[in-house]
Amino acid sequence: MAIKKVGVIGCGLMGHGIVQVAAQSGFEVVALESTQPALDKGLARIEKSLAKFAEKAVEKGKQTEDQAKAFVEAARGRILGSLDKQDLADCDLVIEAIVEDLDVKNALFAELGKICKPETILASNTSSFPISEMGVASGRPERMVGLHFFNPVQLMRLVEVVRGEQTAEDVFAQAKAFGEAVGKTPVSCKDTPGFVVNRLLVPYMSQALLMLDRGDATKEDIDAAMQFGCGYPMGPLTLTDYVGLDTTLSILEGWVERYPNEPAFVIPQILKDKVAAGKLGRKSGEGFYKWEGDKKS
Ligand code: NAI
Repeated sequence: MAIKKVGVIGCGLMGHGIVQVAAQSGFEVVALESTQPALDKGLARIEKSLAKFAEKAVEKGKQTEDQAKAFVEAARGRILGSLDKQDLADCDLVIEAIVEDLDVKNALFAELGKICKPETILASNTSSFPISEMGVASGRPERMVGLHFFNPVQLMRLVEVVRGEQTAEDVFAQAKAFGEAVGKTPVSCKDTPGFVVNRLLVPYMSQALLMLDRGDATKEDIDAAMQFGCGYPMGPLTLTDYVGLDTTLSILEGWVERYPNEPAFVIPQILKDKVAAGKLGRKSGEGFYKWEGDKKS
């Protein structure tokens, strides 16, 4: 495979997981953050998760303690934490996983277009913005692709590989091969809002909120219906609490603004009200349910 060295920008919830799976799979990784505290936090998260990985491997008899220790050390040794974008210059692939703000992402890709070597493939982990637009901002739209991982990256098996309007065939093929190399199942997507998963999932969540708003059923019954009737691991309201009500609202607002004629994109009033009241889901202690850690009531 042509990709050997990978840059990951943003070492938050998603970025730290991408850094970890890439390092575990044998890639050299530059983990880039904007501040030292954010970088320290991201690297500490990786450290904790690697330790858990090693513990499980030993528990399941897949590795001896020495093997697990060597594996963790090798993965750790492939990660370079950095605050300097110049460290990305010779990366074969750079994956952006910063805040979900298109202007901020476009500005970053414009910089990357100047810093990275001409062959570098640029990728975004965006959940809701057009890859093609970031490609244009980078000045090398044919080398831009979407690599959309799922949370938690270490466990979720899917990666959506998104073809922008101008993505070159070999770039797309290399991005897909990278997804496989880090142990994921890649699916090919067009550059449409929400790609495959979120295009189906977010409207499903908003229909559940509209149902609650109309008083058709209680939140507990809506969740139980989908959990036990469809075999989903959790119901749509619990899921919205996990995703974050603010995140869900901002995705929907972006889509409604960009695609006003798409009937699947609607913003339930209850979602706006909860966010305005600071009820953002599990992370704020209350959304549709009250939360103490993983326990809801
Ligand atoms: P996060 O807020 O946990 O992490 C973002 C990180 O980027 C922060 O650590 C921040 O310090 C850093 N950062 C911001 N600007 C930067 C810059 N200019 N240079 C370097 N570092 C910078 O966010 P999260 O949840 O990891 O999301 C990142 C991206 O992944 C977003 O585009 C989001 O839509 C997407 N995504 C999120 C998923 C989720 O479940 N949270 C799932 C799939 C994709």
